[in-house]
Amino acid sequence: MRWTSFVVTLLPTAFANVEKTIFKAPPSITIPQTQPNFEHLCLHTLTPSRPTLNTDLAARFPSEQAPRGIESWHLLDDLSEGQRHELRICWAAIQPTEFWLNVYTLNEVFDAPSLVTSLAAYSEQRKERASCGSRSTLNPDTGTGNRRSLLFLRVQSAADYFTTNNTLMRNPPDVHVDIILDPYVLGIFPRSLLPTAVYLLSLTIIGWYLSGYLWSIISKPPRANTKAHKA
Ligand SMILES: *[C@@H]1O[C@H](CO)[C@@H](O)[C@H](O)[C@H]1NC(C)=O
Repeated sequence: MRWTSFVVTLLPTAFANVEKTIFKAPPSITIPQTQPNFEHLCLHTLTPSRPTLNTDLAARFPSEQAPRGIESWHLLDDLSEGQRHELRICWAAIQPTEFWLNVYTLNEVFDAPSLVTSLAAYSEQRKERASCGSRSTLNPDTGTGNRRSLLFLRVQSAADYFTTNNTLMRNPPDVHVDIILDPYVLGIFPRSLLPTAVYLLSLTIIGWYLSGYLWSIISKPPRANTKAHKA
């Protein structure tokens, strides 16, 4: 039955952990075409048309210098100015991790030396590991020209367990995560919840009619039955 399979598809998320942040997309800014673009930062990019990122994030055990583990940076691009969005990160419960999500506008990042340093360091790391130099992760010519609403996403990840294995304590394995960008419909609820909302609404409507029908059977006066027998 279709409903059963629908419920089954929801199960994996039920066994996962979720952390989220809700934000309003900032006003669009003009991206100068002549200067080096954001592509050279080599970050993963999420847009409303490519809203899901399936990746492995490094995690560290919290230390005195870095109580929130290790930081990674991502770009949220092509947002609809002023629209409310939700950003979720989901990970399996078998990899206990604590995540902190923060979004920053371009100016916020470049006005804060600690943020710029962290972003630059992460970008360098990405360039060493990924071959993103030639591949453009952005679509520079969207309909709106080169004015875009974009945000930087900082994810801090700290391993949240204890092991007597020193190797593991120094180098916890990467955490497999889904990062999901979810625009709100009418500013009320996340777009990805729409099927669930429709499902619940149809259950309610069906339930309403069904209970009306059952009630009409139960409360049918017995006289009607006797008449039918006579006829
Ligand atoms: C510690 O963990 C590493 C990585 O998982 C593994 O290769 C090693 O065998 C472990 N050492 C002990 C003593 O369990």
